[in-house]
Amino acid sequence: MPAITSTAPGKIIIFGEHAVVYGRPAIAVPVNQVRARAAIMAEPKKPPGEVFIDAPDIDLKTSLAELKEAHPIKQAIIGVKTSLGISNLPAFTVRITSTIPVSAGMGSGAAVSAAVIRALSTFLGHPLPDEEVSRLVYEVEKIHHGTPSGIDNTVITYAQPVYYVRGEPIERLFINRPITLVVGDTGISSSTADTVADVRRAWEANRTRYETYFNRIAEISKNARIIIESGDPEALGPLMDLNHDLLVEVGVSSPELDSLVETAREAGALGAKLSGGGRGGNMIALVPEETTSFVSNALKDGGAVKVFTTRIRNIEN
Ligand code: PMV
Repeated sequence: MPAITSTAPGKIIIFGEHAVVYGRPAIAVPVNQVRARAAIMAEPKKPPGEVFIDAPDIDLKTSLAELKEAHPIKQAIIGVKTSLGISNLPAFTVRITSTIPVSAGMGSGAAVSAAVIRALSTFLGHPLPDEEVSRLVYEVEKIHHGTPSGIDNTVITYAQPVYYVRGEPIERLFINRPITLVVGDTGISSSTADTVADVRRAWEANRTRYETYFNRIAEISKNARIIIESGDPEALGPLMDLNHDLLVEVGVSSPELDSLVETAREAGALGAKLSGGGRGGNMIALVPEETTSFVSNALKDGGAVKVFTTRIRNIEN
């Protein structure tokens, strides 16, 4: 029997990270050139229930039984079992690979969960609908992220640009004209759970100040949406700069992120900001098509360990 495979993209948040945890809107897009992949092979010669996990990228080769309960891959598998009301699994091996950088704000964990959940439910004969896949990915994310806003599981499951407000139905974002972003990785791995927890402590200590930051970020996301949908992507540059400044105030930037943001601007980017949880991980820069390689090279020279370009667009443009 051939393997059942499923893939899910990485993602980047363009506007609104952190504020989105507090009910403000955020904008995120899938990044299709990096993906997580899960392939499930039936093991008819093994006794039922013998599940083996092979994830070479993270040096994981183990049986499901040996994996600790809170492990996200185990939780993804348990989530599918519960959702489908299945008590006994057949024997199978799941091979997981991913090209999405880990702990870099690109949603690698959520993408692995989405790929495993889709491949497994299909293997079991009941492919789950997107809404349920997204819900199960969210449940897995909760274990490690504490209070995720739900933006990662949404953009990754639907693989569409989204304008996301916690608790509200998903709104897909129409990209009127393609947007070119250069993504630079600081190479510093940073835990989103930690940055989100730090922001919560700071918010608790000074709600008025933090609510003001979040309201200003919300205005930026709202304006960005209008600009993206009306097709004037260059106008997003100043909004990115403003959003970065507010994230600095919120306390989630770092000297390395600030330096790459500055480097990109000096090299001709129209705007730049950190993306995701912050303190490490990625920054993004909005570039006119013709300065892409100039900005990319400047970021590499400026210390980015990985740089790539992504073109945000709808399937039809
Ligand atoms: O680090 P990432 O890309 O997973 O982004 C987290 C985004 C936050 O807004 C900081 C947290 C969240 O759950 O939305």
